[in-house]
Amino acid sequence: MLNVQKYLTGHLGVLVSNRAWRALCKNKPHYRLKQLAKANANANLNLFFFTVNTVDKKKKLIKGYYFDFTDNSWKTAIFSYPATIYRRGGVCKKERKSYRTFVRQCNKKKTLFLNPSSLGNWDIYNYFSSVKPLKPYLLQTILYEDPEDLFYMMKKHKTIYLKGVTGRKGQNVVRVERLPDNQYQCKYYDHTKRKVHLLRYKKLDQIVPFIDKFYKGKKFMVQEAIDLLEVNHRRVDLRAELQRNKIGEIEISGVSARKSKKDSPITIHANAFPLDELFDLKKLSSEEKFKMKQQIENFLYTVYKKTEDKYGQFVEIGIDFALTKDFQIKFIECNSQSAKVSLLKAHGKNTLNKAMLNIVLYAKYLLAEKAGVERKGKLTLVRKEDGVVNI
Ligand SMILES: Nc1ncnc2c1ncn2[C@@H]1O[C@H](COP(=O)(O)OP(=O)(O)O)[C@@H](O)[C@H]1O
Ligand SMILES: [Mg+2]
Repeated sequence: MLNVQKYLTGHLGVLVSNRAWRALCKNKPHYRLKQLAKANANANLNLFFFTVNTVDKKKKLIKGYYFDFTDNSWKTAIFSYPATIYRRGGVCKKERKSYRTFVRQCNKKKTLFLNPSSLGNWDIYNYFSSVKPLKPYLLQTILYEDPEDLFYMMKKHKTIYLKGVTGRKGQNVVRVERLPDNQYQCKYYDHTKRKVHLLRYKKLDQIVPFIDKFYKGKKFMVQEAIDLLEVNHRRVDLRAELQRNKIGEIEISGVSARKSKKDSPITIHANAFPLDELFDLKKLSSEEKFKMKQQIENFLYTVYKKTEDKYGQFVEIGIDFALTKDFQIKFIECNSQSAKVSLLKAHGKNTLNKAMLNIVLYAKYLLAEKAGVERKGKLTLVRKEDGVVNI
């Protein structure tokens, strides 16, 4: 497999999906990956892109693509295992075992993972429910075990959301609503057909076979619905991108409002605009805006720090949340591998590029910090050997 004879010492390896890799092979990398590679012009790291399949675990070498700034082209090379890894792509089921072996090898070498863990929907919700400062932002959420759980939640709430414990892009999300005529309605967004599906049932227990078929034995949770803020009769929720910067501090790269398509149960695949614009549309006074922003910032930093307390330090976390019609903040989910789609849509290329720059500069900061610690370790060792301390 490894036929390129050029050896390089890798500093920042970016793990991408097979699809992203194929695009690189065709010399058509995804726009956002290209921007990440270009951001490196300011950091000068040895940055390359790879997939699980391009890792030679026996030789501990990786075939990767890098962007050559001397002639502005993509090239392949063979890299040693990188000192830092940024995960930007899913690992599919049949590659999971191979990926785990690779991670074990990396851990032995003390590789720094910029986003060290995935943040599963239920894992996070379950953990946050024990974190006091986060309680006001949480929705009632239970893990589905049997139909009784559904009946119980439907009795308490007029509308609920069923959500896979993992999954993305709203693929595992179903909205269940009790209608005024006491019938029940299920709504979900079909990805392959790109349309909203609507199902009606006279009785609640009639929904169960549909749910069984939808989740195919996969675990999911039942959550009370947020009474989402609306703009022109479209539901709106929010996505915040928080990142660590070049000196390791957490900062907010952008908060975007996402407006759903007509009748859609999810707000993804829709248009996005800055938070300020949402406040203007809702006609908030400047005082209200200021107060709301402070509350949101406080909420976001708390989510970030509490997540890190359990899962380790992250270069960035994409936080999904919402405002209710009476402007209460509600937490939806955390994303450890944010694609930053809404950030680009709402805040433009410059903001996206700054976010990409944060990733490489933070990797650089970590490497410098690690080198510093190692140097310091050596110095104290020398001192002891010198016997200076004992004289
Ligand atoms: N409890 C809820 N109430 C209202 N809308 C919700 C709720 N949970 C999820 N949604 C909607 O569904 C979308 C997808 O849910 P999310 O939990 O973020 O799953 P995914 O991992 O698929 O992105 C959210 O962005 C939001 O628009
Ligand atoms: Mg989401």
